[in-house]
Amino acid sequence: MALITKAVKGTKDALPKEIYKLQYVERIVMNEARKFGFKEIRTPVFEHTELFERSVGGTTDVVQKEMYTFDDKGARSITLRPEGTAGAARAFLENALSNEALPQKVCYLTSCYRYEKPQAGRLREFHQFGVECFGAQSPLADAEIIALGADIFEKLQIKDLKLEINSIGCPTCRSEYHRALKEYFNAKKDGLCETCLGRLETNPMRILDCKSPVCAEIAAGAPVVLDYLCGECSEHFEKVRQYLTAQGIDFEINPKIVRGLDYYTKTVFEFVSDSIGAQGTVCGGGRYDGLIEELGGRHTPSLGFALGIERLLLLMNNQGSYFPADEKTDMFLIAVGENAQLKCAQIAGEMRRAGFSCIYELNSRSPRAQMKYADKIGVRFTAVIGDEEIGQNHAVIKDMQGGRQYDAKLSDFAGCFGKITV
Ligand code: HAM
Repeated sequence: MALITKAVKGTKDALPKEIYKLQYVERIVMNEARKFGFKEIRTPVFEHTELFERSVGGTTDVVQKEMYTFDDKGARSITLRPEGTAGAARAFLENALSNEALPQKVCYLTSCYRYEKPQAGRLREFHQFGVECFGAQSPLADAEIIALGADIFEKLQIKDLKLEINSIGCPTCRSEYHRALKEYFNAKKDGLCETCLGRLETNPMRILDCKSPVCAEIAAGAPVVLDYLCGECSEHFEKVRQYLTAQGIDFEINPKIVRGLDYYTKTVFEFVSDSIGAQGTVCGGGRYDGLIEELGGRHTPSLGFALGIERLLLLMNNQGSYFPADEKTDMFLIAVGENAQLKCAQIAGEMRRAGFSCIYELNSRSPRAQMKYADKIGVRFTAVIGDEEIGQNHAVIKDMQGGRQYDAKLSDFAGCFGKITV
């Protein structure tokens, strides 16, 4: 197929006949977030490359291998956002939201870009719904954020999704842990990939989420960070667990979760499914107490999560989940003859002003062909309008589902239609 009619590898169109599913999911996630006090933030699709290097981290797969980075015409290094947290954190600082009442709670629905190998549930352009809570240090906040995730999945009636949590500690416990990891990986360094050999010196924790199968096999036996937590981090994690239990949220502790991004501290978590193949993590997040400081702000304990919209839809489609039916157009006016075409345009205008959706023929086709079209696209009602109807100020409205018919005055078509549909 010619390139101009082929979407770029790893990208996908969302087509009109499927869009209601996406809109439903987007409505639910935004509404649940609103109930928890989150307000929407919209940030640019691209940022200075350095922002992601500093926040996501220079030794992560995302920064080292997956970013869409280019120089713009002003010779600035620009990157399409691979995730939403960095941009939200930058906006928090740049717009001095840090001086407003804390915590600041923001949520977003955005496209993200990662140059990964496309497969089911993994795209190069994908969409995230995310929440970020800036300036909240209590373990209650961790439980609250996780509760929002759980509420979303409950509202969408998702089955078989497991919540796994872990703590990866703070820089204090991390240094001890790094020493243990270095010792472990040094003994097995012949098997590590080139990138991980570099990570061994700079950030050995990143070897734990390398996508190379050989590195993953070696990493499987590595020491786990939970065994190295300092007193404060242990206590924090203990409280998160207590608060989750008190709210009736089921979870498992998975000491292997380290997440693929450098900014995390303390609590990390994932909602995972085993019914959508290898890319089973639908939602991931955690605390990032050091990020705002790393970007030049004051110490601001923060946390959040993001869920992949495509993965969520894949899961819902696989599970045969409930979606509300696609909304049909209320009325299709079938025009018979030239006079009637203009009349249909006028009536359609009145119908729309009255709040109904109404369309009519735009190709001067025969009434039969118009009816066929109305059938194909699926409309709730039709009405034939020709010279006779205009002369008698009367039309018959037909319910396309049950076949019932109703009389209407052309001079008060929208009013009559309103009475039928109440
Ligand atoms: P993440 O785990 O990298 O975390 O991504 C979050 C979610 O985005 C994943 O669980 C997955 O559902 C989806 N996702 C990631 N990559 C792809 C892909 N290539 N194709 C399809 N879906 C994908 C973050 O991005 C963090 N910013 C989350 C966060 C917010 N942590 C704190 N606040």
